[in-house]
Amino acid sequence: KIIVLDFGSQYNQLITRRIRDFGVYSELHEHTITLEEMKALNPTGIILSGGPNSVYDEDAFRCDERIFDMGIPVLGICYGMQLLSTHFGGRVEGATNREYGKASINVIDNAPLFKGLPSEQVVWMSHGDKVVEAPAGFEITATSPSCPITAIADESRRIYAVQFHPEVRHSVHGNELLRQFAVDICGCKGDWTMENFVDSQIASIREKVGDKKVLLALSGGVDSSVVGVLIHRAIGDQLTCIFVDHGLLRKDEGTQVMETLYGDFHMNIIKVDAQERFLSKLKGVSDPEQKRKIIGNEFIYVFDDEATKLNGVEFLAQGTLYTDVIESGTATAQTIKSHHNVGGLPEDMQFELIEPLNTLFKDEVRALGIELGMPEKLVWRQPFPGPGLGIRVLGEVTEDKLEIVRESDAILREEIAKAGLDREIWQYFTALPNVLSVGVMGDERTYDHTIVVRAVTSIDGMTGDWARIPYEVLEVISQRIVNEVAHVNRVAYDITSKPPATIEWE
Ligand code: XMP
Repeated sequence: KIIVLDFGSQYNQLITRRIRDFGVYSELHEHTITLEEMKALNPTGIILSGGPNSVYDEDAFRCDERIFDMGIPVLGICYGMQLLSTHFGGRVEGATNREYGKASINVIDNAPLFKGLPSEQVVWMSHGDKVVEAPAGFEITATSPSCPITAIADESRRIYAVQFHPEVRHSVHGNELLRQFAVDICGCKGDWTMENFVDSQIASIREKVGDKKVLLALSGGVDSSVVGVLIHRAIGDQLTCIFVDHGLLRKDEGTQVMETLYGDFHMNIIKVDAQERFLSKLKGVSDPEQKRKIIGNEFIYVFDDEATKLNGVEFLAQGTLYTDVIESGTATAQTIKSHHNVGGLPEDMQFELIEPLNTLFKDEVRALGIELGMPEKLVWRQPFPGPGLGIRVLGEVTEDKLEIVRESDAILREEIAKAGLDREIWQYFTALPNVLSVGVMGDERTYDHTIVVRAVTSIDGMTGDWARIPYEVLEVISQRIVNEVAHVNRVAYDITSKPPATIEWE
């Protein structure tokens, strides 16, 4: 496996991601990892990521530099290159100008990392400082006019570095470079596949659980469903799922989840119909944060009620993803907005956790779902917030308003799928802003609700742009919603990006 050390670059997850793409397992770790911890991970190669610091800053991120002497191949990227260079006696200088964007570099024929690649190639640069004197024993393997020491290598110590970002797609041969490092230089086999992942996870779940019982809170979302199917494959009926239907799910979602997981996969599921309980708690409440809190807490109460009826459960399974782990765990991560995640662990419950997805990215979870035989319809659903439609009916939540959102959202989803846009757009939904306006239908004046269509493109939900849905598609969506959903006489399209808006309206 390849360990990527995180020095704070916005691209650090991408490095891991790219390496996994060619079948080599890779993990991101904090730069504060100790030599002993690193040894315990037993890596075949180490990559130092980029980062915002200057190596001469007093509080610059550093790492245990004994890692460089482990005899394991090391690749430094950007800041990683500068860190390596100063460690081995080279010199780094601050530049007056930052170099940001595409650059053309010249590579020495058949230099390590660049074997078989063109001698002139386009890469993506994003740096201020640069190495101005290569350390002794290092050969300069690539140059560019603005950055004469673009890449260096010491083959005897198997230490390599590049100033540009090979993980970014604009670096045309970047993937190939990372592959040469991981496979040719480190000797990784490239046999990390979803099939192998399933096998190894099943083995480790069985070993961990033995003949004990596991509990899972199904939220209806992709992650908890996939985790359920995986664990069920490992231990069958030792797994009990509690599916709390809070009445805030999308149209047919509860039925779909039950049909697949209970009907097709024969999982042991306790479905709790708690719609009324949630609605009565939400009655009269219009503050978004308070609504989130009520829904989150109520979920835990309902889950707790059911869980205490079961005996002898020792483990709690969760669909925590790798991005959740990274975002809550690194010294450099920033939280934009803390989300209440329904399905969160009740604090006073004494379970041991099982989180088999905590090394996977979202798209890998989808691939895992497919590998496990789950239908695409279920696996390819868009992200859905824990508080569900409760935060898409703005202000007080009532069943009537939920119905309007549910129906209009179903139409939107149908039309987006028909137009073939469902995998292109990160998230698309309707919201009810609680605005009444005047309209005319037939010969009659109406005074009814407005539905807002929200559709955004994004990579991780942290930032996003409004999706450029073709007018023809918007036209059908608008017509259908007004014609088919009672109490809607107007449809608006939200054309704000995030930031400054957020994706959801509450
Ligand atoms: P915002 O509205 O903050 O949303 O731009 C970013 C992403 O997070 C989802 N979201 C939530 N997910 N609990 C969740 O589990 C929440 O309370 C919550 N609020 C927003 C939102 O759907 C989008 O994908």
